Amino acid sequence: MNMVNIITKKKLGQELTAQEIDYFVQGAARQTIPDYQLAALLMAIRLQGMTDQETTHLTLAMRDSGDVCDLSAIPGIKVDKHSTGGVGDTTTLVLAPLVAACGVPVAKMSGRGLGHTGGTLDKLESVPGLSVELTEDAFIRQVNSIGVAVIGQTGSLAPADKTLYALRDVTATVDSLPLIASSIMSKKLASGADAIVLDVKTGSGAIMQTLEGSIQLAQAMVNIGALAGKPVTAIVTGMEQPLGTHVGNALEVKDAIDVLSGRTTGALLEVSLLLGSHMLVLSGRCATPEEGRALLQEALDSRRGLAKLKEMFAAQGGDPAVCDDVSLLPQPAVIRTVQVGRSGYVAEMDTTALGLAAQAMGAGRVQKTDALDYSVGFVLPVRIGDRVQPDTTLCTLYARSEEDADKAEAAIRKAIVFADEPVEAPPLCYAIVTKDGIERK
Ligand code: URA
Repeated sequence: MNMVNIITKKKLGQELTAQEIDYFVQGAARQTIPDYQLAALLMAIRLQGMTDQETTHLTLAMRDSGDVCDLSAIPGIKVDKHSTGGVGDTTTLVLAPLVAACGVPVAKMSGRGLGHTGGTLDKLESVPGLSVELTEDAFIRQVNSIGVAVIGQTGSLAPADKTLYALRDVTATVDSLPLIASSIMSKKLASGADAIVLDVKTGSGAIMQTLEGSIQLAQAMVNIGALAGKPVTAIVTGMEQPLGTHVGNALEVKDAIDVLSGRTTGALLEVSLLLGSHMLVLSGRCATPEEGRALLQEALDSRRGLAKLKEMFAAQGGDPAVCDDVSLLPQPAVIRTVQVGRSGYVAEMDTTALGLAAQAMGAGRVQKTDALDYSVGFVLPVRIGDRVQPDTTLCTLYARSEEDADKAEAAIRKAIVFADEPVEAPPLCYAIVTKDGIERK
């Protein structure tokens, strides 16, 4: 087997064999193929695409490039949930305790922030004392004892993806449908769940910004799941604006606590209920998403979801008192409220720019080794379609310094477009994709 021949075949748009895919995936995992040859192959894949068969084989080869987690010691059907990445997108912290409170085990491995998007592990680490690094045994024990655990990856899951993803990030080859689908699904299949709910974002803050691109990505991942023998439901949801009103690590934990305490409703709650209801269906807990939603609503109203979040924080060494008093979460040096300064309607948001504004404040990493400031970020109460007046609050900034607040204010103002005429609010859900087809909303 020879890398130059594999690159040449893909450059000419030909289909790679299973053996050729295995060869470069093993080489990526073991780091025996030089980066320049892998990078050339990634660009050829980005430009020529892959057949469904190639994409599925690539996914399975990446899954098998490292450890595959065995969750069989946890009774019942384990359903995972994964988002393709967004801003203010903290559904895991809302739905994991709600789903667990409905009696379905949630054994979830989450990731860190990437680019403009936030990561659940970073948010969880803003809870004083909380650890996301559990051994596989401790992880399984916690799920068996309280029904829920959210941790970082144990072992070495899909190491080939680690190599390829790092190269894609610096060679302009992230936006390739077969590469995104295989990257996400290889990790999900390796993490040991029996079924998967995918939240595929669409809009200005999403990895796939067009609706058709997002639906195609959803279909590709559902097909991979079917071929790998795992039921997958992919829900295409809007990321034209941050999902929750809070953006930043501790702020998003606060948003989730506010939702579970019944103090906040809106898009974050709605999308969490939607995704959670499909998790309950895939787990066999109920027959329809409507039934699932009613169960989740009951867990929310009775505060059993909030109690489960508290239990999870305590089990992972975190201070559960933050659930009763959110001021115990990290607090910033500067808090500044900014007004809209004009009348009209909120028309559009550049959500990637909003995510980058939070990252620049210290909520995300610019370099891999950057330390985060958990306290920073912003609260953005306005949503597309809202009518505003000059004194309407545009945002509240939580910053390390006045200078950082100035920069964030300028970036947020630039990212939000106002109109004089009324604007329709975009839908929260665009489509539900399963192996049986696409249900457009
Ligand atoms: N998230 C991943 O894990 N991989 C991608 O390729 C894109 C988003």
